[in-house]
Amino acid sequence: MTERYAVTTIEENPALATEVAEVVRSAWPTFMRLDAIAGKYWSELDHAFPELQIAVTDAQSGEVVASAHAVPLSWNAPLADLPENGWDWALAKAFGDLEDGLPPNLVCGLEVSIAQGCRGKGLGALVMQTMKSAAKNRRAAGLVVPARPSLKSRYPLAAMASYVRWRNADGLPFDPWLRVHARQNGSIAHVCDHAMRIEGTVAQWEEWTAMRFPESGDYVVPDALVPVTIDCDSDRGVYVEPGVWVIYPSP
Ligand SMILES: CC(C)(COP(=O)(O)OP(=O)(O)OC[C@H]1O[C@@H](n2cnc3c(N)ncnc32)[C@H](O)[C@@H]1OP(=O)(O)O)[C@@H](O)C(=O)NCCC(=O)NCCS
Repeated sequence: MTERYAVTTIEENPALATEVAEVVRSAWPTFMRLDAIAGKYWSELDHAFPELQIAVTDAQSGEVVASAHAVPLSWNAPLADLPENGWDWALAKAFGDLEDGLPPNLVCGLEVSIAQGCRGKGLGALVMQTMKSAAKNRRAAGLVVPARPSLKSRYPLAAMASYVRWRNADGLPFDPWLRVHARQNGSIAHVCDHAMRIEGTVAQWEEWTAMRFPESGDYVVPDALVPVTIDCDSDRGVYVEPGVWVIYPSP
């Protein structure tokens, strides 16, 4: 596996940043890129924490086949207390900690993307092993991930707390991405019901989803983990994405 692929950080090779951004762009639905916290901080990650922005390249072609983004956090409470607003909280807190000079003691994974056509080849596991090593090398007390279960969008009406408990016959999680975590010894801590908040006008949501929202109500939208709430009177659409905290104490 590692002979076929090379793992590099943006600190080691800043020239990979553009290709990494393209892998992320094509892996995620448009509306997720419009999270307000992401809008404020995402473009600063490579500059602030280049050692935790990861590219996996095909060793022969040099092409980027997977990416991972992570941040350092200062956290002195039990991991069981990681907050409800998981992803948004982690990204904003990393930059707040940096500004306040707080020494980090955790690594928090923010995203993993595998290029289309390269999925199902074990790259997800390779990326998680890389994040665990990064946390270990920094002597962090743990690696934590406000994970986005990859198949939840097919079950948008199921409660996340139930969905993460669904199991296959072999006892592993039903969700493919949670299976990757389980095999890497990550354990599900608790659901974070407000991991991301994405707001826009009705016209923006119509553009992002290629749908029409003729009246107020909750709508099932492609690639969203739960329905989007549209309010035509106030011209707002709100999507609050749930996630699940996966923890790797002392990786
Ligand atoms: C989810 C994702 C990271 C998994 O990575 P991967 O490299 O394909 O993972 P693996 O090869 O280890 O496969 C893990 C499992 O997912 C399954 N899988 C892979 N691609 C799949 C797909 N498109 N649909 C359904 N299952 C899929 C594999 O068959 C495997 O199942 P198994 O446990 O029964 O063997 C990758 O598919 C992806 O980038 N998805 C889009 C972004 C995303 O959802 N990121 C995760 C949240 S941060």
